Amino acid sequence: MDILFICLGNICRSPAAEGIMKTKVKEQLWYEKHNIDSAGIGAWHVGELPDYRMREHAKKRGYDLNSRARQFKDTDFGRFDYIIVMDDENYREISSRAGNDEERGKVLRMCDYFVKYKGRKSVPDPYYGGDADFELALDLIEDGCDGLMSQLFENV
Ligand code: 4NP
Repeated sequence: MDILFICLGNICRSPAAEGIMKTKVKEQLWYEKHNIDSAGIGAWHVGELPDYRMREHAKKRGYDLNSRARQFKDTDFGRFDYIIVMDDENYREISSRAGNDEERGKVLRMCDYFVKYKGRKSVPDPYYGGDADFELALDLIEDGCDGLMSQLFENV
């Protein structure tokens, strides 16, 4: 099961989703045969660690975020089974780059996996926000990852 998380800059939401999902897979499945990665739509932050605010908020919950930002490439459609986006803008951008229906079908929204936060329509971008925005993003991402764990890994 290969999962790619997408957001705009790949320094706040998607690296948090990558780190949280990797932790959950490790804890609950005991092995790592799954490729879990993240990428951004823009190239502004390529090579950077996640935003220090996201790293600090995630650290308090026990997650070490240490991936380096990279930009989404069209070849990612062939490398991943699921491409999970954080908001509608991400969805429009990534699905418009799909070459066929199979690729388009791989693009899914994180909000479709919310359990506690069912009804919310996105993981809002915290980049221009404050502490509460980073906390909300993490609450939503943890919830979405729980939903993904129970739906995607049910029979693994
Ligand atoms: P992310 O947040 O998409 O959750 O990584 C952002 C980070 C940087 C920018 C936008 C969003 N930016 O414009 O630099």
